[in-house]
Amino acid sequence: MDISSTALLTAAGRARRADISLDRYAAYWMQAQEHSYAPQLGESYAQEVCSREDIGLSLRNRFFLKHLNAFAEAWIDGVFVNLAAGFTSYPYLVDKPVESFEVDLPAVADVKRRRSAELQSQGILPDRKVVHCAVDLSQRDQVDAMLAAISKSADGRPVFLLMEGITYYLDREMTEYIITAFGAMSSTASVVAFDFWRPAAQEHQVFAKLSAFYSTTLSHWGGFTLIDDTLLRGLSPYQIEELSDAIAQEVEVLGEIPEEAATATFLEHYAILVRR
Ligand SMILES: C[S@@+](CC[C@H](N)C(=O)[O-])C[C@H]1O[C@@H](n2cnc3c(N)ncnc32)[C@H](O)[C@@H]1O
Repeated sequence: MDISSTALLTAAGRARRADISLDRYAAYWMQAQEHSYAPQLGESYAQEVCSREDIGLSLRNRFFLKHLNAFAEAWIDGVFVNLAAGFTSYPYLVDKPVESFEVDLPAVADVKRRRSAELQSQGILPDRKVVHCAVDLSQRDQVDAMLAAISKSADGRPVFLLMEGITYYLDREMTEYIITAFGAMSSTASVVAFDFWRPAAQEHQVFAKLSAFYSTTLSHWGGFTLIDDTLLRGLSPYQIEELSDAIAQEVEVLGEIPEEAATATFLEHYAILVRR
């Protein structure tokens, strides 16, 4: 499989725990003909890497949806841009409809464009304006063109930029570049939301299992990018609105968690930054 298939793994997790993720559409993305292998892939992942991942992925979705809802509530003319959107459903879940752009590699963007049109015409997804863009975020020229297009479309309106499930696949320099360049071109009150893995993640049992799983299943995979706090401290046009993580969200949403579950949980961190 290639890197685009990781979007099915995360969607499968949200579908299995829709009670937590609040993504009532997650299962529909996997019904596309070309995704028939998704349930089997999800099973292998749960067995070989982490059976608790469904909960973590679903809490992550719920966390970002909460912040997107707050943004859309505050800014009636706001714009939502989802980088490496995969098969997430935010434009269809957000309480107040928001103009949306979804960016991913062509293999995902093309299927998502077709499938969302099908699901909207069947009345399964609500009617929403979503533009699907094929961009390779590892390529500086494509990123620059994308940022220029976002700036032109937003035309001074606040933008909520989400980077979920992508910082560990991009070079750290590119993540920093995207966030900094977005800060330079976006209006005040714009938001950057992302999840990331700190260097301590390498010591977790799930990290080794995930690395082994990807090295045998992914056609091109060069390891994960870990992000330390110097990146967060250096992002000057922003203030940190919230930093959280998988365990803090599990406690907040589900209450106390058993000690053995806490050690089995892979600690993903979540950041919400607001442009000053
Ligand atoms: C783990 S999935 C996350 C998808 C979605 N954000 C989610 O949380 O479910 C990683 C996503 O990053 C996309 N991706 C990986 N490398 C990319 C690149 N260089 N440019 C654009 N998208 C990329 C994949 O196609 C996939 O959709």
